[in-house]
Amino acid sequence: MNLFYLRVNIQEAISLVFEFLWTLIKVNYEILRGIWKMIVPPEPKDVSNEIVLITGTGHGIGREMALRFARLGATIICVDINATTNEETANLIKQEKGKAHTYQCDVTNRAAVMQLAEKVTREVGDVSILVNNAGIMPCKPLLEQTEQEIKLLNDININANLWTLQAFLPSMMARNHGHIVAMSSMAGMMGIRNLVPYCGSKYAVRGIMEALAVELWDDPKDYKGIKLTTICPYMVDTGLCKKPRIRFENLMKLVAPGEAADMIVDAVRRDVIETSIPPELHYSIRYIHNLLPFRAAYVWNTFLNTGVDAHED
Ligand SMILES: NC(=O)c1ccc[n+]([C@@H]2O[C@H](COP(=O)([O-])OP(=O)(O)OC[C@H]3O[C@@H](n4cnc5c(N)ncnc54)[C@H](O)[C@@H]3O)[C@@H](O)[C@H]2O)c1
Repeated sequence: MNLFYLRVNIQEAISLVFEFLWTLIKVNYEILRGIWKMIVPPEPKDVSNEIVLITGTGHGIGREMALRFARLGATIICVDINATTNEETANLIKQEKGKAHTYQCDVTNRAAVMQLAEKVTREVGDVSILVNNAGIMPCKPLLEQTEQEIKLLNDININANLWTLQAFLPSMMARNHGHIVAMSSMAGMMGIRNLVPYCGSKYAVRGIMEALAVELWDDPKDYKGIKLTTICPYMVDTGLCKKPRIRFENLMKLVAPGEAADMIVDAVRRDVIETSIPPELHYSIRYIHNLLPFRAAYVWNTFLNTGVDAHED
């Protein structure tokens, strides 16, 4: 009896050791694959047949992304709460002979997002690239932010991502084809003064995207045809960041919205899972800053003295 259990235990131990060694091999393979993709990026994919829905296309990075995807031949679904500015974006696309459709929608309203999905599918077709871009950034100390402001921030920056996913992911899953893009921020990788709720919301975006990747990859249906990209911009000159504070302007300058959109569209086309704007910041924050003890990272940040100052709305 004892001998039997001993044999079973030895067999289990041997199989565990083999499983562990196989996992180590696969982990190292993925590390090498990541490094290789950094050195030799994959060819950008063709998006000319894709239907790209972007939220927040009325201004800033959203508008610039819409223009760029349209120039690549994609059909653009422009979604914004502001019908006038959204229409302007669609007109810019049409002037360049691109394909654009406009929909006014407050993405914080789940029912409205569900209706939007139904309408877009009926009128244009299945959305294959979803870009969750709409966002706001109140910038002042936490104790000066009202309950209403904080709830609205979380509704736009976090919950809207979940509503659009629930609305547009099912058709991507049915076809095992699609791409989800989310706008996090540098403030989703490190804490920044005057941005306490905003930082929380942008960390949440990264959490949502990471958990979604695991959920899709773990699924027995193996949804590897659905790609995910999370973008963490530093500071983009759209007016969102009203009082940027940058000590070393040559090293860390404000990026023009068009330049940011170029980098985002390129990352999407190369199926990059997560990157920053500019991309080199991603490596320094993720692989150097985030490995430092918290207080050491804080001292380093104090030296860099980069962030946003509080402002009245
Ligand atoms: N600009 C930056 O420096 C910066 C840095 C990091 C991350 N980001 C992120 O990038 C994204 C785009 O930023 P931006 O600077 O282009 O912003 P922006 O203010 O220029 O444009 C945001 C757009 O979203 C729309 N919008 C706001 N609330 C909405 C709602 N409830 N429903 C539908 N549309 C809504 C606005 O009308 C506007 O057209 C945001 O998620 C932001 O947090 C920006």
